[in-house]
Amino acid sequence: MIPVADNSSNDLMSVCKRRGFIWPSFEMYGGVAGMYDYGPLGCALKNNIVEMWRSIYKGREGFVEIDSDTVNPREVFKASGHLDNFADLITYCQKCQAPYRADHMVKDYYDNPDVLTPKQLEEAFVKYKIKCPACGGDLGPVDEFNLMFRTNIGPGNARVGYMRPETAQGIFVNFSNLYRYNREKLPMGVIQTGRSYRNEIAPRQGMIRLREFNQMEVELFVDPADKDWARFPEIENETLDLIPNTTLELTTMTVKEAVEKGVIANRVLAYFVYTTKQLLLSLGVDEKKLRFREHEKDEMAHYAADCWDAEALLSYGWTEIVGIADRGCWDLSRHAQFSGEDLSHFKKFDEPREVEVEKIQPNSKALGPVYKGKAKAISDAISALPLSAISDGKLKVTVDGEEIELGSEFFQVIKRTEKVAGERVIPHVIEPSHGLDRIFYTVLEHAYDYDEKEDYVVMHMAPAVAPIKVGVFPLMEKDGLDDMAKKIYESVHTHRVEAYYDGSGTIGRRYARMDEVGTPWCITVDYDSLQDGTVTIRDRDSKEQKRIPSADAARIIDDLLAGKSFADL
Ligand code: ATP
Ligand code: GLY
Repeated sequence: MIPVADNSSNDLMSVCKRRGFIWPSFEMYGGVAGMYDYGPLGCALKNNIVEMWRSIYKGREGFVEIDSDTVNPREVFKASGHLDNFADLITYCQKCQAPYRADHMVKDYYDNPDVLTPKQLEEAFVKYKIKCPACGGDLGPVDEFNLMFRTNIGPGNARVGYMRPETAQGIFVNFSNLYRYNREKLPMGVIQTGRSYRNEIAPRQGMIRLREFNQMEVELFVDPADKDWARFPEIENETLDLIPNTTLELTTMTVKEAVEKGVIANRVLAYFVYTTKQLLLSLGVDEKKLRFREHEKDEMAHYAADCWDAEALLSYGWTEIVGIADRGCWDLSRHAQFSGEDLSHFKKFDEPREVEVEKIQPNSKALGPVYKGKAKAISDAISALPLSAISDGKLKVTVDGEEIELGSEFFQVIKRTEKVAGERVIPHVIEPSHGLDRIFYTVLEHAYDYDEKEDYVVMHMAPAVAPIKVGVFPLMEKDGLDDMAKKIYESVHTHRVEAYYDGSGTIGRRYARMDEVGTPWCITVDYDSLQDGTVTIRDRDSKEQKRIPSADAARIIDDLLAGKSFADL
């Protein structure tokens, strides 16, 4: 049973702390910026969000889930490009040395400071007289600051490692295993949830910018020539609020229109932008406070060919909570190049095709007299080389450990027609990357409702994510009312339906405690219950109350969770 604490202050973060949703980490040692722990109710809410995400991607779409390591060797991030490119721009106060994210310092003067270069930022500090917020000192030069946490794998520093900044790389480095598991077919969808780490320069926005955070990532591998999705027609007439990077204007259109007008590049990307909207709405995100913004060209991550952010309107302003990127063939090509492993997909043609291919052919007549006994081995080695092996008109082969350089008199490039069954392509990746903590916070902020006059907080959470689904109370903890309430509690409480038994305080106070943590329904046992076996069920949002047979309580809660309206009970 999840313990629920008492009232004292009513802004969202205080409610969250007091009621055991989240707690600043290491508070007894002064805390660390950008780090929070999930309390019992927070843990339950977080798990419910993950389950809803799973039910779409694993359930409806049939994707598979993996769980990979959070500490990765340096090679992974050299190949992925994070070692060279995963940086934010930093500036230090020249007087007190406080560090600041340079783009955040100019956010009052630019719509999207993310696109500014270091030089433009330095000029902006001067132009707008931007000083250190702590001491008023001048801001210094703008540099790059890599966001990855570095560590050593094993004693000493023989093997450098990094904490992963995204869960995605664990999927890419397992591509061969997953591809085999998927019987070498595309499309192939893989999901992973877990911790990611970024040494954020100045985390000041509560749960929005954490140094250790949770992601729910989806990597969908598709044939680059076939960016379509079979279920697209099911959602093509649904609408999206979009801000394309071509106009920077908010526009509402159907998913189909967005693709036909070239606003979203292809049907698979558009399908998953809409899927993201579906998921967020089912979690209780307010549709009026949700939009999708396309990254500007110079805002895109190093790996992205295109990217749409799901942005939620929060007290911090419009905030990215999910990024849906077209990563093209970036990751698999780079890992193939750096590891030497073949990460391509064999795309079989419907019918074998005749294609004209260019090949290197050895010139045996020239090889024989010069290389004598080795001529055959050299000839075989030449035949095995790809066209790309020719450099400056020459070839290098290794025979019996000896490297031999061959001029153009020993080979020629010929064209011939061959029958081929298929071709090798590097799959492209479409990636909906969900920031779990940001979604968690958005769910809370959009559910939060404080009535100042009544000094009363209600969290209007979607029942599916609410940490407690039903509160069960005896009117008095005596005369058998408590036994009956406990029986109901036991019949309702399952791994899916978290129930909460509360026997203390006035009934009004008990309802208030449940409203404050988002519990959608409460059941109360009173003296009539002992006579006629009925109990009161109360709805959090309408405050309406009805009598139901206590024996039906579990079934009724199940029906309500499945979507039946309270009015129809
Ligand atoms: P921002 O521009 O806000 O730093 P980002 O563009 O770096 O975010 P992505 O790299 O696209 O974010 O990460 C994917 C998702 O992971 C984001 O949509 C966000 O929800 C989440 N995320 C990224 N960084 C953090 C962080 N420091 N704390 C919490 N969540 C994060
Ligand atoms: N995987 C996308 C990101 O975390 O940036």
